[in-house]
Order: sequence, then C-alpha cells, then structure tokens
Amino acid sequence: MASIVKFLRLLADETRLRLLLLLQKEELSVLELQEILGMGQSRISGHLAHLREADLVQDRRAGKNIYYALSTQAVHAELADILAATARELPAASRDAKALRVVLRKRQDKARDYFNQLAGKFGRTYCPGRTWEGLAHMLLTFVPEMTIADLGAGEGTLAQLLAKSARKVIAIDNSEKMVEFGSALARKHGFKNLEYRLGDIEDPPIRAESVDVALLSQALHHAVRPARAVAAAYRIVRPGGRIAILDLLQHQFEQARELYADTWLGFTEADLHHFLDDAGFREIEVSTVARDEQNPQFQTLLATGQK
Ligand SMILES: C[S@@+](CC[C@H](N)C(=O)[O-])C[C@H]1O[C@@H](n2cnc3c(N)ncnc32)[C@H](O)[C@@H]1O
Repeated sequence: MASIVKFLRLLADETRLRLLLLLQKEELSVLELQEILGMGQSRISGHLAHLREADLVQDRRAGKNIYYALSTQAVHAELADILAATARELPAASRDAKALRVVLRKRQDKARDYFNQLAGKFGRTYCPGRTWEGLAHMLLTFVPEMTIADLGAGEGTLAQLLAKSARKVIAIDNSEKMVEFGSALARKHGFKNLEYRLGDIEDPPIRAESVDVALLSQALHHAVRPARAVAAAYRIVRPGGRIAILDLLQHQFEQARELYADTWLGFTEADLHHFLDDAGFREIEVSTVARDEQNPQFQTLLATGQK
C-alpha cells in the first residue's frame, strides 16, 4: 500500500467498499459482481483496477473468466474493522449479501444441471481424470495388512501395487527373466516386503496355509493343468483365506497361442467354478467383469472363493 492517504481515499467510495465487502466473502467474476451490484461492467472494472493497483484486490484467470478476491496483503485488522462497520452501516450491504447468495446458488445450479443431465449415462460417459488405474490405486489403499501370493506375477505390476499396503507379497513366476526384472524393480522402488520366487503356479514354492490371499491375474490360461494350479492355490491359503482369479472368458482367437503364448483360449464361467469347487473353495462367485473395446474384444472373468 502506497500511503495511508491513498488507502483512505480509495475507501472513501461506497461502491469500492461494497466491492471489498463482497470480495472479502467470496472470489467473484466481473459478471457476477455486475449481477450483485446492478452496475455496468466498465464501472466495476474501473474500481477493481484501482483496488488492484493498491494491492487490495488480486485476480486469477480461469478460462474466459477473471475472478477477483481480497488480496492476502489486504487481510489486516484495520480493513477488517472498516468492512465490519460498512456491513453494519450501509443499507446496500445487506442487499448485496442476499444477491451474493443468489449468485453462488446459480454457480452450484450450473454444475448440478450438468450432472442432472448425465445421471444414468455417467458410467458410460467420459469423465476427465477417471481411470481404472486411478480407481485401483485408491481401492488398494484399503487392502488390510495381509500376506498375498501373486501367482504368475510377471514383472509384478499388481504385486508392487499390493505391496504398498500388504504385510508381504510373494510373487511367483516360472520365467527367470521376469523374476530377475521384477526383483530389480522391487529393489529400485524400495519394497522390502515384496519377494520374487522362481517357481511354477502348479506347485508354487510357498509353505502350506501361509498366505491370506492367492491371486492369479491373467496367469491361469498359461498353466498346462489349470485345475492343478487352483488346487495348489488352495494348499497355500490359510483356512478362511481367499482366492481371486482374473482370466479371459473363453474365446475363439486362435492366434493368442502364438501371439501371447496362451495354452488355453480362456475359460467359461462354469470352468472356473468347477476348478474352485473341486479344489475345496466355497462361497464361489464367477462373473464377467470387463470387455475390451478393440477386436477381438476379449472379456475378463473374475472368480473368487474362500477356503
Ligand atoms: C500374462 S502374464 C500376467 C502377469 C501379471 N499377473 C499381470 O496380471 O500383469 C503371465 C505371467 O505368468 C507367467 N507364467 C506362465 N506360466 C506359468 C507357470 N506355469 N508358472 C508360473 N508362472 C507362469 C509368465 O511368465 C508371465 O509372466
């Protein structure tokens, strides 16, 4: 602020006091200030320019709009006292406060109208920033402290996510290179609770009844004997522990054998149900949870059960 004289001269104007009083309560655009004060744009902009010059007001651009607010320098006791007296003494101040509430309600209504129109379609509509990866990160923060076996872990994309919350994650894979790469990645990211072991999912090198959860994510269709892999998962899970399998719904895309080294062209929901049931799991649930947009439109099955 240049000087006390300049400060007092600035405040010796009813419109500027009303503006400051409003901006003390809320950040507002010129259009919103016009609506509240019932004044023209050039008059309001002129006053705002003076207040900004004196560092009493600051502005922020958001798209086509510029929003004004009381500047951080302006938040001091003298100004607060003057504005409190203004609020008490100026009859226009209470009218302005009511008009401000109307303007703020309109702002909310705009967003509400948008979502009101989207209701029922929102699940299929593009929502900036909403990704399955983001949702997975959030949901994984709820994973309780437990020991998880990631069977057919690959590089350990899932294992590493889980290791952020789990007590321990044991990642099994029969590819030396995957185990080497995954171990190096875990070291690089500082995971002390993530251990890679070389082994087959049909007979994983994990002590019986030592894990809370066994996961098979896109691994079962690589097993020569998938039923045996599910039975092995049953063996390593503690009583009360759970299994979760993500795999492909049975498909006809024969090239998958060459392209992705797939042994099985997915499974039917009944196949997975039988594997789990025969292994001894109960409370079995199997459902199709996702479908690729691009051809050959693979679909994903989720199967869960409890020991
Ligand atoms: C398609 S990747 C899935 C990786 C990881 N689970 C994921 O969801 O990102 C399949 C992985 O299973 C491993 N795999 C295939 N057959 C296996 C077996 N019999 N025993 C252990 N790992 C196996 C492969 O080496 C590969 O890393």
